[in-house]
Amino acid sequence: MNINDIARLAGVSASTVSKVMNGKDKDISEETKKKVLKTIEQENYVPYLKYREKEGLKNHLIGLLIRRDNRERENIVMCTERAVRQKGYNLIINYMDSGQEVCGRMEEMFRRKAAGVLIDSRQWNAGGRFEHTSVYLSQTKEFDDRQRNTFYYRLSEAGRMAAEYLMKAGHQKIACMVHKRDSSILDGYRMAMQSNNLHILPSWTYEGGSMEDIEKYGISQCLSENVTAIICGSKEITCRVCRMLDRSQTVIPDELSIAAIGDDEMPEASGYAITTVKLPVEEMCRAAVECLIEMIEEDKQFEVKRRFSPSVTERGSVAKPAQAKQGEKIIVVGSMNMDVTIEVLRIPVNGETQIAQRVYVFPGGKGGNQAVGVGKLGGQVYMIGCLGNDLDGKQLYAGLVENHVHMEGVLFDTQLPSGKAYINVEQTGESTIVVYTGANRNLSISHINRHKYLFQSARYCLLSLEIPGDIAEYTIKFCKRNDTAVILKPSAVERIKEELLPYIAYFVPNERELDIFVPEGESTEEKAEILLKRGIDNVIVTLGAKGCYFRNKETSMYFEGAGFEAVDTTGGADSFISALAVYLSEGRSVEQAIGFAIYASGLSVTRYGVQPALPDRKTVDVYEDEIYSKYARVNEGG
Ligand code: RIB
Repeated sequence: MNINDIARLAGVSASTVSKVMNGKDKDISEETKKKVLKTIEQENYVPYLKYREKEGLKNHLIGLLIRRDNRERENIVMCTERAVRQKGYNLIINYMDSGQEVCGRMEEMFRRKAAGVLIDSRQWNAGGRFEHTSVYLSQTKEFDDRQRNTFYYRLSEAGRMAAEYLMKAGHQKIACMVHKRDSSILDGYRMAMQSNNLHILPSWTYEGGSMEDIEKYGISQCLSENVTAIICGSKEITCRVCRMLDRSQTVIPDELSIAAIGDDEMPEASGYAITTVKLPVEEMCRAAVECLIEMIEEDKQFEVKRRFSPSVTERGSVAKPAQAKQGEKIIVVGSMNMDVTIEVLRIPVNGETQIAQRVYVFPGGKGGNQAVGVGKLGGQVYMIGCLGNDLDGKQLYAGLVENHVHMEGVLFDTQLPSGKAYINVEQTGESTIVVYTGANRNLSISHINRHKYLFQSARYCLLSLEIPGDIAEYTIKFCKRNDTAVILKPSAVERIKEELLPYIAYFVPNERELDIFVPEGESTEEKAEILLKRGIDNVIVTLGAKGCYFRNKETSMYFEGAGFEAVDTTGGADSFISALAVYLSEGRSVEQAIGFAIYASGLSVTRYGVQPALPDRKTVDVYEDEIYSKYARVNEGG
């Protein structure tokens, strides 16, 4: 903007403008002089500042002092700028790292000739230069009561609204994850939960100091718990949660509902349509700017404290709780190992050296496999066991969390490293395993006792014997006391006392384990009969590709295999047991559950490793009709 522009806008010549500004205006009419001065004021023509002051003209500049850590910083700048421009003003922005900087920044604004300031601070500033032309913006009601003109919204209200919205959809187990600077969201969430008499487990809330911290610990902590919905305190948290859910193939909102605080760019940023609680930044900035300009132009003094309310923007990421659709709870007590799988042409015999074709490292362990199997099939599963406090332990932990296993029953042991298994897999898919139990050995009775509340509410307990024998036996008795049905996978190494057999609801050995457990008797049928006589309710002998044999008081029947081609049979039984438990937990008959279990384990052995190979619910359910027709014939045929 130069003198010619001012002249053009005022409809006079440049020399007239110059004369007015230089006080040589005797021969210029009052009306022309006013026109020139008004144009200068409107266009904020800085070279004529001196004249502006002399003539008492207002400067068309507004300052914004904004804290750098304000979560809505960009949004506030954008909305303020828009509002200021609409009023024919310009905005100068100054960022602050703390409230202490307000005075200095105000001085600076004064030097730059701002006519008034918008201040993002909780501390009142005596005003000084801008005593009658300052307005405060705030995102919580922690501001100084002496602040005369304050425009604010409450982040806690947004937290409360998100929680109430989720509760209305039927959720009770709601997690809330925020950045430390937004902790008032948590206050609102707590208020809503408390006023609905809902108890909050400590692991349902996370307040992180940085996004790295939230990503590394917060998300897995909150998701490891029995929650059906999650409140994400910001767009950044939402993106990370969505990424994690993507990796674990968790469907939003079928399996987990999400509500996020802050609406700006949310849909694009997360890649999902996320229901949000929109913060009233735009309304707040517009009102604050209008008020400030009125103060400047009318020389008025105000006493305004105006609160703005957040609002919910529904986008479909909230549905009824997923658990309403899940079966009863399943506990897994067992081992978690890191498996080193060695692919060989043939399993080496005594004195033989073989060259490995390939080597893989996969998360495994019978307990871990069973828990992941249940999680992938959509069951409600709780792991109880011990990991080493090492890298393997952390990876195993993360793998289970990603597969929806609740982990409050998992301990990091400081004495022993995580368990390991060295597995040879030959070309036929058959395998042999050597296990180093490591931290699994340190599972204790007190640890089982501590989780009594889980046993009390669980329907099934999957137990395998890569943990100390006395702990396994204690668990069986503990289940009996708490009315939890035990599904036991025996091992070729550990034995359990015969007097405990009547406490076992489902005994699931393979042929070799059956032979070791019951040396007497010739055939599988005879051995199963012996076990029944010793008090076990149901015996299911897994027969690899040939399916299984099932025996209880009423029934004795063979189920044929699913017919899939195996590349690695490791963990086939773990897959079988987890599927059996999930379908039983949903109220299916044992025969139906066995049908699904045969297909689940058949699918799992078509891939290398155990946990990565375990099938998810959709993959198994694709075969639902085939399973019904195949085994219905078996059932009819007896
Ligand atoms: O059942 C298979 C499992 O047995 C492997 O994952 C290995 O860790 C051993 O525990």
